[in-house]
Order: sequence, then structure tokens, then C-alpha cells
Amino acid sequence: MKQLLLTLSLSLILMPTSSMAVPAPGMSGEELFSFDKWSSTGRSCAGCHPEGKGLESIGDFDDMMLKDIINACIRDALKAPMLVEDATELTNLKNYIRSLNQK
Ligand code: HEC
Repeated sequence: MKQLLLTLSLSLILMPTSSMAVPAPGMSGEELFSFDKWSSTGRSCAGCHPEGKGLESIGDFDDMMLKDIINACIRDALKAPMLVEDATELTNLKNYIRSLNQK
């Protein structure tokens, strides 16, 4: 019984849904970049691209392509639902990573 209780409380702590959230509307690109609650993975863009690592060549992409690539990372790397193409969050994220690139 003790064991069962322990297992139960552990699974509650580790329950993915408790840490999952969609980004709040109006979050800035910077906030979104380090937002780690997109999915139960606990990952964030910043975790894999610290200070824009790996994003040095995004100047080659136009806005539409860049949004598609960001969404691919949201889906495949963050395991989270993609944003709609005209979402403010997607635009904020795109503008933020472009600003990282201008160092
Ligand atoms: C689990 C790690 C991981 C996470 C989290 C992640 N990415 Fe990525 N991302 C990658 C990898 C790996 C690539 C491919 C790198 C390559 O091809 O050189 C990539 C590529 C990209 C590219 C294309 C870069 C290029 O020049 O081809 C962009 C833009 C990008 N990610 C943005 C984001 C954004 C924005 C987020 C957050 C929403 C994010 N990534 C989250 C791992 C991640």
C-alpha cells in the first residue's frame, strides 16, 4: 500500500498535463524563446539554441519560411502543437530570433 501511494504521488508529480501549457497571448518573443511549458518535455527553444546557437543563418529565410521552420521545431523538438501562421506569438518569436542574429 505504501508503495502504491508512493507510485501514485510520483506519477502525479511527473504527470505531463500538470506542466503543459499553451503560451499566454501577448507573450514577448523573448519570453516565448525561454518558455519551457510548451509540452511535457520541459524543453524550450533556449535550451537547444542558447543565445541563438544554430540560428546564425536564418537571414537566408524569408518570414514565411522562418515561421514554418519555427513551427517544425515546435512540433518535432518541443513536441507541442504548432502555432497558426498568423499567430502573434509566432511573429514575436520570429522577430526575436532575428534580433538575436544581428549581433
Ligand atoms: C530539442 C532541441 C530543439 C529545440 C527545443 C528547438 N530546436 Fe530549433 N533546431 C534544433 C535542431 C537540431 C535544428 C537543426 C539544426 C541544423 O540543421 O543545423 C534546429 C533548427 C532550427 C531553425 C533553423 C536553423 C537553420 O538555419 O536551419 C530554427 C529557426 C529553429 N530551430 C528555431 C527554434 C525555435 C524558435 C524553437 C522554439 C520554439 C526551437 N528551435 C526549439 C533543435 C531544437
